[in-house]
Amino acid sequence: MREQVITWLQENVSPHRLQHILGVEQMCIELAHRHQVDPKKAATAGLMHDLAKFFPPPKLLAMARDEKLEIDSVCATNPHLLHAEVSAIVAREQFGVKDREILTAISNHTLGSPHMSDLSCIVFVADALEPNRGNTPELETMRGVSWQNLYKGVQQACDYSIKYLLNGHRTIHPRAVLTRNWALSTTKQHLSQVNQKGKSPDVSLTVNH
Ligand SMILES: [Fe+2]
Ligand SMILES: [Fe+2]
Repeated sequence: MREQVITWLQENVSPHRLQHILGVEQMCIELAHRHQVDPKKAATAGLMHDLAKFFPPPKLLAMARDEKLEIDSVCATNPHLLHAEVSAIVAREQFGVKDREILTAISNHTLGSPHMSDLSCIVFVADALEPNRGNTPELETMRGVSWQNLYKGVQQACDYSIKYLLNGHRTIHPRAVLTRNWALSTTKQHLSQVNQKGKSPDVSLTVNH
């Protein structure tokens, strides 16, 4: 199955994108082991997260409509945002993936979603932080944080992406903000639970960003 997907990707995405995808797959496996998530599911979701990355906007819109997905005004004007949900459709239709958690993790990889599963969190974080994204101190810090605390990693990845969009005067999808606020409150809950137990807070929770 993996070789079949890679052969398909070689024909449907750029070599640069394929390197990113393989980086996401590898980071998903590592984060899954670290955070007690099924590494096979994480690898599958990582390998298939960007299947529709190069689909043209009319194709993304048509496939989303066929699937009866909600196409809000932000997605209507930025159809590329639909590549996450359309990648899940391709994973199901082209490669027979039936596992709902894997398909949802693929769908969530760009905007996330409040209350998303740990598998979704892993794919979301790996997409933002895999090694091919660069080696700036900010990215290195976020990699360390996501290794220690997955939800804090999601929140920082959201902050990073929202700052990038703000600086570029680009539209921010409201779901990205909802995901960020959920990850922030979840991290705070974990911190207060740790403090109530009288333990020292996890180092990841004290990192400034
Ligand atoms: Fe993507
Ligand atoms: Fe990606």
